Amino acid sequence: MADTSPRNSLTVTDNRTGLSYDIPIEQGAIRTLDLRQIKVSPEDFGLLGYDPGYFNTASCKSSITFLDGDKGILRYRGYPIEQLAEKSTFLETAYLLIKGVLPDKERLAVWTYNIRHNTLTHANMIKFMDGFRYDAHPMGILVGTIGALSTFYADAKDINNEESRKLQVRRLIGKIPTLAAMSYRHSMGYPYVLPDDDLSYTGNFLSMMFKMTEMHYKPNLILEHALDVLFILHADHEQNCSTSALRAVGSSGVDPYSAVAAGCAALYGPLHGGANEAVIHMLKKIGSIENIPAFIKSVKEGEGRLMGFGHRVYKNYDPRAKIIKKIAFQVFEETGRSPLLDMALELERIALEDDFFVSRKLYPNVDFYSGLIYQAMGFPLDMFPVLFAIGRVPGWLAQWTEHVQDPEQKIARPRQIYLGEEQRDYTPIEQRPKNRIDEKKFDICRL
Ligand code: CMC
Repeated sequence: MADTSPRNSLTVTDNRTGLSYDIPIEQGAIRTLDLRQIKVSPEDFGLLGYDPGYFNTASCKSSITFLDGDKGILRYRGYPIEQLAEKSTFLETAYLLIKGVLPDKERLAVWTYNIRHNTLTHANMIKFMDGFRYDAHPMGILVGTIGALSTFYADAKDINNEESRKLQVRRLIGKIPTLAAMSYRHSMGYPYVLPDDDLSYTGNFLSMMFKMTEMHYKPNLILEHALDVLFILHADHEQNCSTSALRAVGSSGVDPYSAVAAGCAALYGPLHGGANEAVIHMLKKIGSIENIPAFIKSVKEGEGRLMGFGHRVYKNYDPRAKIIKKIAFQVFEETGRSPLLDMALELERIALEDDFFVSRKLYPNVDFYSGLIYQAMGFPLDMFPVLFAIGRVPGWLAQWTEHVQDPEQKIARPRQIYLGEEQRDYTPIEQRPKNRIDEKKFDICRL
């Protein structure tokens, strides 16, 4: 009897040769290495997948974050982001991301103790900070100083040792807010503030940022809670640009400080973690509500983007943006309403009714309202991506830990499609044809 059961495979016919191939399908994917058997001749290298920007390429198998961009779903370890934002704390969510389960009371207490007791940095870090120019961007400082941490902890190179990995995770989550606050205070010329153990993780960060001459800094509870929720919302987002950068760098076997510094550098870009800062610049440039239609028209004509809108994966309202919009109102009740909020609301209203944005499935993303909240809390614009980075560290570390332990992972090394010159012979400089240089345009720097 013929086998009629569905087969988990893909049959492709190469029309260049007429040959057919059966390629196994596993968990909804084919292994692109299986395409290499498809050749036009024995010397042929074999078929490659070409996917700039990784639109349709899975780089790993992961159990950390689930995301359905069409339905607007985001879950960490199976827990919906809405529930975590409402009921959890950032440190508990960090535990969840890294360990895979929610902690019981005792475990959470130990975890919190361990993170809190890793907030101090080596005193030499102050010299490092002082070496940056007074106007250095805090994100540049953060990238540099996270990388520098690797030089303080040589034991971090032992990436295959579970105990060492756990220690580096605690150190990194503990020290990032300290470095972040130091980078801000350096740019302001303020003395650095030591961590305060009596405060929560987020309260302590606010203290290291804003404490002046008072004996004990008391964070505003509403703002502290809002920032804690924002950290939860940023804690992981599966294989985004910075996480992929971190995994690629980590795949070389380097220590986690260097890998996290790479993730942080990727996050710095305006299309990624820098977008929240770009939203405020955009709103300020628009200037007032009356100018919004003209601005939307210019975006539609290709003169720039509506920052804080659109996402590679979400083709629906970003679930994080929904939560952030609610928080924005709570924060503004405390701090007073910013005129930029009204502009953002109007911009969103108009964009969501405009066919240009609707047909391209462009909705507000996590960065559209977060910058407004940060600004209301008193953070300067250039600290916005730094705040994103503080939130993302547990996610990066969960992804790094998973990557290091994944027996299928190899050093990241994509292929290319070479379009350059064929082999040619080196000619001595005297024999090369003379290139005519336009004297008027001659500019030695551009050669
Ligand atoms: N404003 C206007 N048009 C846009 C925008 C936007 N924000 N985003 C995408 N488009 C258009 C784009 O011009 C293109 O149109 P067409 O098909 O006519 O050429 C179409 O939508 C698809 O855009 P794409 O650039 O191919 O999409 P992508 O998946 O490569 O880019 C994105 C995703 C987030 C980089 C992009 O939407 C964007 O630049 N948004 C603004 C920056 C931003 O808010 N970034 C934060 C992302 S969320 C935080 C994070 O996870 O990093």
